[in-house]
Amino acid sequence: AYVHMTSNETIEGTQFKQFPDTGSVPLIVDMSSDIFCKPFDVTQFGLIYAGAQKNLGPSGVTVVIAREELLTSSPDNIPTMLRYSTYEKNNSLYNTPPSFAIYMVNEVLKWIQEEGGLAGIERVNQQKAALLYDRIDSSEGFYRGCVDSADRSIMNVTFRLANEDLEKQFIKESEQAGFIGLKGHRSVGGLRASIYNAVPLENCQALAEFMDGFKQRNS
Ligand SMILES: Cc1ncc(COP(=O)(O)O)c(C=O)c1O
Repeated sequence: AYVHMTSNETIEGTQFKQFPDTGSVPLIVDMSSDIFCKPFDVTQFGLIYAGAQKNLGPSGVTVVIAREELLTSSPDNIPTMLRYSTYEKNNSLYNTPPSFAIYMVNEVLKWIQEEGGLAGIERVNQQKAALLYDRIDSSEGFYRGCVDSADRSIMNVTFRLANEDLEKQFIKESEQAGFIGLKGHRSVGGLRASIYNAVPLENCQALAEFMDGFKQRNS
């Protein structure tokens, strides 16, 4: 009935750079963790959904971009509140919406436009990710990337050190230096820098410098 993909996987740090042509089968994509990180062609997709909490604004609101025929074809036995067509018919106001979260998403969209739109955001995101991946690749094995270069995410940069003790040391020292949340997801361990749209280039520069210093002190 459909093909479902997740465009960016935050735990391992992988990202699809292109999507398959699924012909007449609708392609449905969870873009929660990389929507608006770069330009994309909406016409490829039957339905896109994205929780706002990573690149769009506060948690509590989900953006859905869908083909009308998919909305109208949902079976009647789906409860009213769970049917996208209910929201489409009522201008997303069937019940009280999370108005503050929606207001903030609009502010973020205006900010994206000021930054040069999605092309402008992509330029910065590519620079941010390159700073960190370059540090990993030029570290002579001190930092080890977890993902093949072609599949690396520009939102979640995952890497490992020689052993878990050194990783713990990295997390501790990075926290002391003011970095938050570099610990990898509990299911895989290691390190992870989540560099969503709201993270400025300067923060990635600071992390790259911290990585240089940590390597010098420990190799
Ligand atoms: C791609 C993707 N989908 C879904 C989720 C989970 O969203 P929620 O906690 O709103 O269910 C996440 C992470 O939070 C995610 O990265």
